[in-house]
Amino acid sequence: MAYSDKVIDHYENPRNVGTLDKQDPNVGTGLVGAPACGDVMRLQLKITDEGIIEDAKFKTFGCGSAIASSSLVTEWVKGKTVDEAMTISNKDVARELALPPVKIHCSVLAEDAIKAAIEDFKKKREARQNKA
Ligand code: FES
Ligand code: FES
Repeated sequence: MAYSDKVIDHYENPRNVGTLDKQDPNVGTGLVGAPACGDVMRLQLKITDEGIIEDAKFKTFGCGSAIASSSLVTEWVKGKTVDEAMTISNKDVARELALPPVKIHCSVLAEDAIKAAIEDFKKKREARQNKA
């Protein structure tokens, strides 16, 4: 199966690989797995108190399409509000990377990871507010 040029570009030069400090109250961590293949994606977002995503890092143990999907969404979410980032769908990712049908679940992983990271951030924020 042939990968698209965009997949290969992101796979060979992944953007924003790395880790953000989990202890940072403004960092949300999303860890998701793909039941179809067992691949795992971790996406971390640093979100300001105003709800703007100012940084994003990922680590993905998975196929080229999963790595490309995570790399792409780290670029997309930076500078967006949390609400805007929640509207990114796996279809946008699959279209941008021209993923074939058997690789659609790799883009679902990226959408799920964004949502999981934002959920984690919101939970942390609520916990902080309840303490205050
Ligand atoms: Fe996910 Fe091969 S099935 S890397
Ligand atoms: Fe399973 Fe890509 S994430 S094959």
